[in-house]
Amino acid sequence: MDRLSSTRRPLEDAIREKKSEVAVIGLGFVGLTEAVALAEAGFTVLGLDVDKGVVAGIQAGGSPNGHIPPSRIAPLVHSGALRASADFALLAEADVAVICVPTPVKDGSVDLDAVRSTAAAIARTLDRPKLILLESTVPPGTTRNVVRTLLDGGHRTPGRDFFLAACPERIDLLNSTYTLANTPRVVGGLTPEDTHLAQLFYASFVQHVHAVPTPEVAEAAKVFENVFRFVNIGLVNEFALLCRSLHIDPWATIDAAATKPFGFLKHLPGPGVGGACIPWAPYYLLGAAQGFEAPRGFLEASLAINAMMPEHIALRAAQLAGGSGRHILIVGVTYKPGVADIRESPALPVMERLHAWGFRLSYLDPFVPTLSLDGLQLRSLPTTSPLESIDCAVVITAHAEIDYQALCSAVPVIFDTRNALAGLGRQNVIPL
Ligand SMILES: NC(=O)c1ccc[n+]([C@@H]2O[C@H](COP(=O)([O-])OP(=O)(O)OC[C@H]3O[C@@H](n4cnc5c(N)ncnc54)[C@H](O)[C@@H]3O)[C@@H](O)[C@H]2O)c1
Repeated sequence: MDRLSSTRRPLEDAIREKKSEVAVIGLGFVGLTEAVALAEAGFTVLGLDVDKGVVAGIQAGGSPNGHIPPSRIAPLVHSGALRASADFALLAEADVAVICVPTPVKDGSVDLDAVRSTAAAIARTLDRPKLILLESTVPPGTTRNVVRTLLDGGHRTPGRDFFLAACPERIDLLNSTYTLANTPRVVGGLTPEDTHLAQLFYASFVQHVHAVPTPEVAEAAKVFENVFRFVNIGLVNEFALLCRSLHIDPWATIDAAATKPFGFLKHLPGPGVGGACIPWAPYYLLGAAQGFEAPRGFLEASLAINAMMPEHIALRAAQLAGGSGRHILIVGVTYKPGVADIRESPALPVMERLHAWGFRLSYLDPFVPTLSLDGLQLRSLPTTSPLESIDCAVVITAHAEIDYQALCSAVPVIFDTRNALAGLGRQNVIPL
C-alpha cells in the first residue's frame, strides 16, 4: 500500500461506514443545521461553539436560533448522536472537522479571526490524518493561504497528514423546496485526495456533490452566487427609482419583463439588502482582489446603489408622514419575512435616520420583541395594537403574521417598500 492510501484508506472507510465522529465548529444557522443533518444521517456529531449559552441550549435539547425545531434536536442529544461543547480539546476525538464559523465584514473588511482560531485549534489536535472542511463564506484563497498554512505548521503535508477542502454552505433558511439535502454541494480540495474524501463525506447526506479543481474555484463560486444576487438587486433598485422618475410603474414593468421564459431572472427592488450573506458578498471579492489589477466596477456601483436605498426610503417616509415630529410605524424589522434575524436589516438604518430627524418611532414585528438602536430602546407593538396615533407606516419586511387590512384601515398612509400590499386595492398604500 502506498503512503497516500495508507493514510487516506482508514479515514475513507470510517466515513463510508459512518464510524467517524464529526466535529461541527460554530453552531449558528449553518452549523447547527448541518450538525443535525449529519446526526440524522447516522454520524456521531460533536458540536463546538465558543458561546457557552449556545452549547447549554443545545445540550438542553433546544435550538438557540429557533431555526430548527427542538423536536429534532432533543432526541439526537438524548441518544448521544449529537452533543455540544465549548471544549475544543475534544477535537482530538474527531475524524472530520467542519468549519461553520462566522466571517463577518466590518467597515468593509472581512474578519477571518474565527476561521483562524478554529484552524489553530484543529492544528493543535492533528495527531492523525483528518478531513477538514471549510464551509464558511470566505474570500477566495482563504482555504489555501489561511487554513492550510495553520494546519501544516511547516511540517505537515495536505493529502497525506490532513485532507482539506473548501465546501461552501448554500443553505437558504425557510426554503422548503431546496434544503441542505437537495441543494448541490460544490467541493474543491487542495489535492485530488482531499477532493475525493470531501465528495465521499458529502455524498452521505447531500444528493449531488459537484467537485471542482481547486478550493479557490469552490470559494469563488459561492461568492459569485451571492454577488450575482447583490448586483442584480442594485440594478433593479436603480431601475425602480428610474421608473418612478419617468412615471412608470416599476412593479408592473418587472412583472411584465419576467413573463419572458428565457434570458431574464426576476429580482425585486426593496429598502436595501439584509442578512449576514448577500450584503457582504462584494467585500469577499474586493478583499481577495486587494493588491491585484482587477476590475471591480459592478461591485462598487451596486454597493453604492444598495447602500443609498435606506436613505431614500427614510426620506420618502418622512415626506409621506408630513414632517418632523410625526409618528412613523416601521412594519417588519428583520431582513426577510418569517425569521428572527435582524443582521444588516435595512430597517435599522431607516429607523436610525428617522429618529435622528426627529420623528416618533414605533415598530411592529412578531419575531423581534425588543430592539435597541443608536440611543433608542423600543418594544414591538402587539400585532393587535390600536394604531390610530400613527401618521405613516412603512412596510420594510412583509411578515405573513401581520393583519395588513387592519393596518390600512387604521393608518392614513402606508409606504410599501415591498409591494406586498398591492393585492389589497387600498388607495392609501404607496408602493416604492
Ligand atoms: N446564515 C446563512 O443563511 C448562511 C448561508 C450560507 C453560508 N453562510 C456562511 O456560514 C458561516 C456561518 O454563518 P451563520 O449564519 O451560521 O453564523 P451565525 O452567526 O448564525 O453562527 C455562528 C456561530 O459560530 C459561533 N462562533 C463564533 N466564533 C467562533 C469560534 N471562533 N469558534 C467556534 N464557534 C464560534 C458563534 O457563537 C455562533 O454560534 C458564515 O461564513 C456565513 O457567511 C451563512
